Amino acid sequence: MTRIVLFENIHASAKEVFVAAGFDEVVTYPGALTGDALREAMQGAHVVGIRSRTHLDQKALSGLPDLRAVGCFCIGTNQVDLETAALRGIPVFNAPFSNTRSVAELVLGETILLLRRIPEKNARVHEGFWDKTADGAYEARGKTLGIIGYGNIGSQVGILAESLGMRVLYHDIEAKLPIGNAHATSSLKKFLAQVDVVTLHVPGGKETANLMDADAIAAMKPGSILINASRGTVVDIPALHRALKSGHLSGAAVDVFPTEPKSREEGLDSPLRGLQNVILTPHVGGSTQESQENIGREVAEKLKRFIGSGTTKGAVNFPEIPYHELAGTARIIHIHQNVPGAMGALSNLMGEYGLNIVSQQLQTRGKIGYAVTDVDGDVTDQVIEGLRNHPITIRCDRV
Ligand code: NAI
Repeated sequence: MTRIVLFENIHASAKEVFVAAGFDEVVTYPGALTGDALREAMQGAHVVGIRSRTHLDQKALSGLPDLRAVGCFCIGTNQVDLETAALRGIPVFNAPFSNTRSVAELVLGETILLLRRIPEKNARVHEGFWDKTADGAYEARGKTLGIIGYGNIGSQVGILAESLGMRVLYHDIEAKLPIGNAHATSSLKKFLAQVDVVTLHVPGGKETANLMDADAIAAMKPGSILINASRGTVVDIPALHRALKSGHLSGAAVDVFPTEPKSREEGLDSPLRGLQNVILTPHVGGSTQESQENIGREVAEKLKRFIGSGTTKGAVNFPEIPYHELAGTARIIHIHQNVPGAMGALSNLMGEYGLNIVSQQLQTRGKIGYAVTDVDGDVTDQVIEGLRNHPITIRCDRV
């Protein structure tokens, strides 16, 4: 019996995946719990699912001998002490790709609205004015979209933009195969000078901090548009503010900010507030009903595959072993300390129990090793107990 405990109103699509896979014991909680209430709710759970408000620190992860995996039904995994989880043999999974389409659609919508100066016109009509004019309003068809960071999201934006008749250029630090009719440009400066709309889809971090600084913004075509739905640190906000005020840029859409409010009440502190033809959104690029449903399914599938086959593909804190067919009569997963002789000890023990190793995969990461072994032989509870009792073992299960 596998007990699954899901917190924070995780989308029903997750439970559907578990139930279809035969995991009937799925307990759900509408909100996040803390302290003793959280630990009590997790007792006896083999799988725990959380979103961003449940904190699984060292204390929360202790005293849970049954816990085999954690699913973060979101993108970020900062709320989990990943190292502690790994050292306890618990892989942590998340959903990095389920909201890519949602971001791509928002960017495309913003491109159309900004080219037509709709944010400004909308505000004027709300104020009671009727400034009917075609000045500064353009179709997207025939314009050039420039994508910086041609990964999961960037490449989807390119495909959607082409369907509108836009020309697509991209710039990436890695050589990326163009999808559709997009063209790669290696020089960022040349790229910026050619495009009508720049959209950013790079990761955050030191490498991309202020990628769009004053110089890069100055290199953009006069009257062009900047869209950032990637990470707040990628754009120098004061430089963007100056470029919008001077008219060098005709508009911008910003979904992510260097410092974002921590609560609904806090409010955004940004010089971009109140500027004409600027769309500001509260980091909702990936937030749609569809993405929540996809996240539920994506993470539940990863957890289901781990419990059923031992695959850790996509785990954020664990050695990765991809899915492979069972080669013998049974599969044993063994998480151990990454020390010399670990595999020898494991193989010897299996031999002593009369098990013939048919196939074996090992991966290591930091202090832990992870072996998935397919055997011919009778894998009894005593065999698993014997493997568990070896001093190098962190966890051992039959799947
Ligand atoms: P990804 O990892 O698939 O693609 C990122 C691409 O950027 C890669 O091709 C990489 O080679 C490229 N890159 C890295 N450094 C670069 C540089 N200095 N110059 C040019 N290219 C560079 O990432 P994905 O999934 O497409 O996400 C992109 C961004 O979108 C991330 O920052 C992510 O956090 C953000 N995001 C924002 C959401 C929102 O709600 N606004 C929702 C989901 C993701």
